[in-house]
Amino acid sequence: MDPMSIAIEPVKELLDAQTYIWNHIYSYLSLMALKCAIQLGIPDAIQKHGRPMTLVELGTSLSFHPNKALSLGQLMRLLVHSNFFSKQLLSSSEEAFELTLKSQLLLKDHPFSLVPFVLMVLDPIFVESSHYLSSWFQNDDDTPFHTAHRKSLWECISCVPEFNKLFNDAMASDTQFVVNLLISSDEFKGLWEGVESLVDVGGGNGTMAKAIAKLFPELRCAVFDLPHVVQELTGYGKNLIYFGGGMFKAIPPAQAVLLKWILHNWSDEDCIKILERCKEAIPSKEIGGKIIIINMVVENNNENNIPDYLYSQLLLVLQVMNITTGGKERTEEEWRKLFISAGLNDYKIFRNIGSRSVIEVYTLNFLDACDIRKIFHC
Ligand SMILES: C[S@@+](CC[C@H](N)C(=O)[O-])C[C@H]1O[C@@H](n2cnc3c(N)ncnc32)[C@H](O)[C@@H]1O
Repeated sequence: MDPMSIAIEPVKELLDAQTYIWNHIYSYLSLMALKCAIQLGIPDAIQKHGRPMTLVELGTSLSFHPNKALSLGQLMRLLVHSNFFSKQLLSSSEEAFELTLKSQLLLKDHPFSLVPFVLMVLDPIFVESSHYLSSWFQNDDDTPFHTAHRKSLWECISCVPEFNKLFNDAMASDTQFVVNLLISSDEFKGLWEGVESLVDVGGGNGTMAKAIAKLFPELRCAVFDLPHVVQELTGYGKNLIYFGGGMFKAIPPAQAVLLKWILHNWSDEDCIKILERCKEAIPSKEIGGKIIIINMVVENNNENNIPDYLYSQLLLVLQVMNITTGGKERTEEEWRKLFISAGLNDYKIFRNIGSRSVIEVYTLNFLDACDIRKIFHC
């Protein structure tokens, strides 16, 4: 294109646009600075110190090379700007760093720690697939992950032991975060009330079920996952057992079936099959039966200025596109269609765990197909 043919914008606007692009493209360094801080244990060192920590104290406690003092200051400046740390001036005029709520969640032994999750998302195996988005749009591979690694995410998990561990630890840390919220907040009390038995389908290493079983000793819990996932896991307390099997064949019966971060991995067709098996496993709503789904309910908001949780949704939609074959994040309308197709009759959405929601889905015994349509207003 002839540069002379481009309409000349005022210089300030051109520079603003260039700065905007630079900030956008270099924002990966903000992520890498965060990863670096976690890998070095900076949040843990500040926590252990017990009071605001100077750069010299931080460098000494983490055995930094003396030549790196200036670089540590530059790293911390960026992380203060990203609100992971706050800074104060000591009476000695030295700067000292403190944790913010965000970096508290990056402490390795915090009960809500998100460290394994952050390390998984920023792992080269995961990041690599996003480099192949453009090729994937023009080839017939299932996912960009497949284009990048010539295998699916699940094949990669089963054949790369370190990645398997990274993935399982990440899932467990996210689950620990979610379950702590669900069992400690009054808003979700109703979820567990009256539930006598629960099966966590695709429950992995049982992080969710263990926390529920511990809090409610009368509630009988089961973790149901593929045989190789649960084969070495044993009971935890009297009220938790593990079952190996496949959710497309049959799900052990229980009053409540939990599906956390499962259905977005599967196509509509597969989700309907899974939901049909769930329906067979639970009693009707009248006697407390329910399916509890923890997943995103995508809100299509076309505004430019959207709240952070909606921005999270935009990003996670792309992440799911990157890694799952046929899976997707769904809008309420898309969920509703799945429920109807699986013969389920009613649902309720609790929209308040960040970018995700809890959906309770029920089957009502006394309704015929005609009534079902009335309930769903269609
Ligand atoms: C994304 S992980 C979610 C784990 C857990 N629910 C969580 O949120 O931490 C998906 C889980 O589904 C399990 N899974 C995959 N296919 C399955 C099948 N056919 N039957 C039962 N579980 C399955 C996987 O082994 C894995 O543990």
